[in-house]
Amino acid sequence: MTEIREVKGRRVWDSRGNPTVEVDVVLENGLRGRAIAPAGASRGLREAIDLRDGGTALSGMGVGQALDNVNGPIAAALIGLDAEDQVGADAAMRALDPSPMKEVLGGNATVGSSLAVLHAAAADAGKPLWRHIADHYAQTPSIPLPEIQIFGGGAHASRRVDIQDFMIMVPGARSFDEVMEVTNEVYFAAGDIMGRRGRLAGIADEGGWWPEFTSNEEALETLVEAIDLAGERPGDRVVISLDIAASEFGRNGAYRLALEERDMDTGQMLDMLGRWLDAYPIVSVEDPLGEDDVEGAAEFTRRFGDRVQIIGDDYLVTNVDLVEQAAGKGACNALLVKVNQAGTVSEAVDAFAAAQAHSWGAVVSARSGETEDVSISHLSVGLGAGQLKVGSFQRSERMVKWNECLRIQDELGADTFVGGAPLAKTWWGKGREPK
Ligand code: PGA
Ligand code: ZN
Repeated sequence: MTEIREVKGRRVWDSRGNPTVEVDVVLENGLRGRAIAPAGASRGLREAIDLRDGGTALSGMGVGQALDNVNGPIAAALIGLDAEDQVGADAAMRALDPSPMKEVLGGNATVGSSLAVLHAAAADAGKPLWRHIADHYAQTPSIPLPEIQIFGGGAHASRRVDIQDFMIMVPGARSFDEVMEVTNEVYFAAGDIMGRRGRLAGIADEGGWWPEFTSNEEALETLVEAIDLAGERPGDRVVISLDIAASEFGRNGAYRLALEERDMDTGQMLDMLGRWLDAYPIVSVEDPLGEDDVEGAAEFTRRFGDRVQIIGDDYLVTNVDLVEQAAGKGACNALLVKVNQAGTVSEAVDAFAAAQAHSWGAVVSARSGETEDVSISHLSVGLGAGQLKVGSFQRSERMVKWNECLRIQDELGADTFVGGAPLAKTWWGKGREPK
């Protein structure tokens, strides 16, 4: 047992230039852990809240109250606890704030503190974080298959296009390094195409190219062209993954694609997405329907769940109860795992374990507002989650997570790269023909 001696919160700044919460947890033996809370822009309605000060200063984004909560009640509750008892530390914070969305303490205060405890326990055990996670949760560590954004849209690009993430996956790669190489080629091929068309207009929040398109489908067509220009056969080694983030443009079964001035109901959304699945080598779709459209998600899964991965993000907000409900309804077959949606490591791991128990896929994910914190790279490896999503292939708050996987791979062994295994139940895994 090693007691927590000190908990200290400080204000640092994220990739969008907004303030955020960093927490140091110091143990009685002087070892320490540190973590930084990320921040989402397309947030689920039921996720742990980001406690912000409001008012006019810093556009209302100040974290003074969240820091007061770290340095006050959270520190008082954690000091004296055993750093190795993650469940105990997280339960102590939940006792202070039993609200489902961490409205009292703020999810930014709790997630920074919870992750800092995890880091401190790893330091105390003398292990790298990924190894500590694997041992603590009795999981087999592995190097994950990345999902990497090429075009960023939705809330990450001032809604220039409606769909949020146009990504690639490289399940045919034999190593994580090969994924990085192929991604470099596809990313810059996409930039070349945009440049030649006079459409290169910078990058979106997560480093993907700004989506200067006239329709959502044009982004998909251009992505296929970019894969082709990079010398790859689309659907072979490289495939497409989408985050529709439909909650951003749909409520109560009514969807509006603003770019195309198109209004659709759930059935029309299902038909449009089904057409895309037939026309393009798409292997994974996140939040295809709005978070309140449970019947839509279930119907989507009934129709397409045997050929593509269907991920719940805004819909499931890394919540164990919502995962159980969705599994009961046959909606989704994979979970996006964002620790700050849950608010603590223990709650996020509970949701992950539920997904695992239902034989779902799991994708550990960053937020659109990120920092130099690399906890999620370790979490993805340590839990053996199989997949990792951290945005695009530019900007250091993204690259630091990919690069951390390369360092972990040096310790863990390149042969633990999962390759296409997480997509075994999709058309790609069943024989590599899109239909
Ligand atoms: P967010 O979006 O971090 O802006 O909420 C990321 C995602 O939807 O996966
Ligand atoms: Zn999402």
